[in-house]
Amino acid sequence: MKSKEIRQKYLDFMKSKGHVIVPSASLIPENDPTTLFTGSGMQPMVPYLLGETHPDGKRIADSQKAFRDVDIENIGDNTHLTFFEMLGNWSFGDYFKKEQIEWIFEFWTRVLKFDPQKIYVSVYGGDAEIGIEKDSEAVEIWKKVFKKHGIEAKDLFDSQKKGMRDGRIFYYGDDNWWSRAGAPSKMPNGEPGGPDSEMFFDLGADKKFHENSPFKDQPCHINCDCGRFIEIGNNVFMEFVKTQKGFESLAKKNIDFGGGLERIVMISQNKDNVFDTDLFDNSMKKIEELSGKKRYESKEVTKAIRIIAEHLRSVTFIMGDNNGVGPSNTDQGYIVRRLIRRAIRYGRKLGIKKDLWTKEIVQKVINDYKSVYSELEKNKSFILDNLNQEEKKFAKTLKKGLKKFKEIVRKEEADNYKINGRVAFDLYQTYGFPIEMTEEMAAENDMEVDAKGFYKELKRHKELSRAGSEKKFKGGLADNQEQTVKMHTAAHLLLAGLQKILGGHVTQRGANITKDRLRFDFSHPKKITEEELKQVEDFVNEAIEKEIPVTMKEMSVKEAKACQAQGVFDDRYGNKVKVYSIKGYSKEICGGPHVKNTKKIGGFKISKEQSSGAGVRRIKAVLI
Ligand code: SER
Repeated sequence: MKSKEIRQKYLDFMKSKGHVIVPSASLIPENDPTTLFTGSGMQPMVPYLLGETHPDGKRIADSQKAFRDVDIENIGDNTHLTFFEMLGNWSFGDYFKKEQIEWIFEFWTRVLKFDPQKIYVSVYGGDAEIGIEKDSEAVEIWKKVFKKHGIEAKDLFDSQKKGMRDGRIFYYGDDNWWSRAGAPSKMPNGEPGGPDSEMFFDLGADKKFHENSPFKDQPCHINCDCGRFIEIGNNVFMEFVKTQKGFESLAKKNIDFGGGLERIVMISQNKDNVFDTDLFDNSMKKIEELSGKKRYESKEVTKAIRIIAEHLRSVTFIMGDNNGVGPSNTDQGYIVRRLIRRAIRYGRKLGIKKDLWTKEIVQKVINDYKSVYSELEKNKSFILDNLNQEEKKFAKTLKKGLKKFKEIVRKEEADNYKINGRVAFDLYQTYGFPIEMTEEMAAENDMEVDAKGFYKELKRHKELSRAGSEKKFKGGLADNQEQTVKMHTAAHLLLAGLQKILGGHVTQRGANITKDRLRFDFSHPKKITEEELKQVEDFVNEAIEKEIPVTMKEMSVKEAKACQAQGVFDDRYGNKVKVYSIKGYSKEICGGPHVKNTKKIGGFKISKEQSSGAGVRRIKAVLI
């Protein structure tokens, strides 16, 4: 089965079980400043897991674009990816464990024809400290499901230490708890989470994964990373929320299932790594052609070809998103830059001589995916222009930079094998080497980099350039300041009002403030009625009339999230953020400034409501 068919079969299957299929949300989160990228299928679903109603109902499924930059260093092995597609289904207070387990097993075994003998599962083993017991309910359901296939499924604790002992269901602790923050102890207040049950596919003991792995001295068990068992999906029983009092039940019990498409395709296509599937085949072949190397020629070549294919696929999706971001030195842009440059360096290692070659790979990616993700075709020129520019820029300095690096290695070898921060900064600024690339190259030469020193230099440099731009812009802003500050506070009230009147799905999509008017874009599927507009306007004016103090508190991004502050802009947040509160009305992460009291705004009037693109409305408002 081709990957396209597998993806579709999953969606069709979930549809047959009453799910509404929704499109993937953007890879660049629109209203969640806590992460640069959408990192899981559930991330865009958090509001609904917390109790908001989803406009499409209680059963939702999709294939979500996801990106995790934590995995960059691991790329090149059989299964790790930075970008991946996550097949997902959700029950928002509808069906629960029984249906989920039965259905997903039906999908694996009947639809994809996976051998049930090769499927193993893990369940939550309980934690006395947080007062949540082992998941006996899931175990009983699993036993019945396996039994239907003639398999007696034994459940066992301690497989890490004692091995598998013919078991089929294994209890783990924090490994079988899912929240965006990880283990229960790591969750901030307000974060939803719950026990989960993961499913693994056995690639076979005969493949000697275990013997060749760093874990060879440990007994074999399904959650080990040796490569024999591969996780194919995770059923999260999302029924708790962390609060000051500990773990409380959410109003509704939810299901959050996620399974990585690439791994599922790999098993279905009978491969032992994701790169030999049809998802990568065309781009891998192109890299082989450009370099004149074969993918299994040597370990180094395998790794280099995979890194190039993987990184260039990821940047295609990040740049090709409808909120697409090109290479730069900040936020998502920096990741794009780092991935492109890393791919180019590995291309050089492989001996690719041609100029501007990365676009040939990216074109393959666009072709392979455009029938599913049409935005890639739509944004093709943005992707290719940015890629070419970046490649040209880096090509100019790469050769000199590599020469310089060799000199550094020779010189610094005597200096405790450590490249100092200033030198790393010079490589960054003059030759365009991302710090992670310098670190990687240093490691290849058994050296280290003083990363702290590098960041100190970077900070010093940034402060200098910021001081420069501050001077430049000061004059223009000053005279309108008071009026714009009022508008700014009104914008917070407006967002809160829209959410109250129209629903929790409303998120800010952009704002533009001049001294004369406020223009505010937000997500909403249809025209807003006169009456709704009036209610929103009244909401804002009521807050103004009540003369409420506008207060500000600094906190970590996590704390802000936990106290349910709205996040509006998805970039430029450091570790600490300011949260502006208008008690009873609004709470929002924002750099400010704001008026001290809502009465300062005076009065608020909506002057216009119109469409501003698909699913986006625009409101213009003035202060009176
Ligand atoms: N949220 C879970 C995960 O990302 C399941 O969707 O693994």
